[in-house]
Amino acid sequence: MDRYLVFGHPVRHSKSPFIHTLFARQTQQELEYGLAEPAIDEFAHALQVFFAQGGKGCNVTVPFKEQAFTLVDRLSPRAKRAGAVNTIKLTDDGVLLGDNTDGAGLVADLKSHGVTLADSRILLLGAGGAARGALAPLLAELPSELVIANRTHAKAQQLAAEFCDLGPVTAQTYEQLAVSFDLVINSTSASLQGELPPLAPALIHTDIAIYDMMYGASDTAFISWAKQHGARQTMDGLGMLVEQAAEAFTVWRGIRPGTKQVLRELKRNLGVI
Ligand code: ATR
Repeated sequence: MDRYLVFGHPVRHSKSPFIHTLFARQTQQELEYGLAEPAIDEFAHALQVFFAQGGKGCNVTVPFKEQAFTLVDRLSPRAKRAGAVNTIKLTDDGVLLGDNTDGAGLVADLKSHGVTLADSRILLLGAGGAARGALAPLLAELPSELVIANRTHAKAQQLAAEFCDLGPVTAQTYEQLAVSFDLVINSTSASLQGELPPLAPALIHTDIAIYDMMYGASDTAFISWAKQHGARQTMDGLGMLVEQAAEAFTVWRGIRPGTKQVLRELKRNLGVI
């Protein structure tokens, strides 16, 4: 049977096996999908062993995405732009192809929630790996403006400079932000420490859409905060997780699974509904 898995550390709580097993059942593909948690300095070796032993493809998650970028034979254009790899496929001619489906997953999830990206004013919080992966796919949707705000302003400036050939992207400090955004995307890892990005509550209005790339069984700290300040449309990153997986599955198997039912089952599994 064709073998796939996700590399991460820690990875025990990954939902990827659950999601891909449902995709395989739905599309009647014969495959198995597991987990691998190599020591931080043993990822390269573990990856090599997996493919030497017949593995067909894998996902890569924190903290290995940047390392995976350097280990594959060939990069897709979107992986090159993201500077990170979350999906690897062994091609029929034996080439390890590195891809990145995170940004496509974000955009697909935003669209499935009915968010209009064309001509919209987007505020992206954070300038780390997650923000970098989101930039090209967001700019491809032709927003009228995309502002990056980050605690360390220089990193936001650097990202804006790197992506400004793709669209109207600029960097502002949290203090500079004006009340004019249609969509705020939180790509920071602040909530992992139970913190909030230092956003002024005045930026939140009833017509704004709020997206947090994080998710949990209950509202993330950022989503609770935004609701408290009047945001009516809030979305967490669970849908992005399923959509990036669907995109990876399509890369591997050449068949696109449906995501709605799988997202519903995942929510049930997490106790969200
Ligand atoms: P990831 O790959 O998940 O993006 P990362 O590359 O470590 O992780 O980036 C984390 C991002 O969250 C950074 O933009 C970080 O801001 P700094 O560049 O200033 O470190 C941001 N971040 C983390 N904790 C934060 C907090 N408490 N408030 C605001 N931003 C925070």
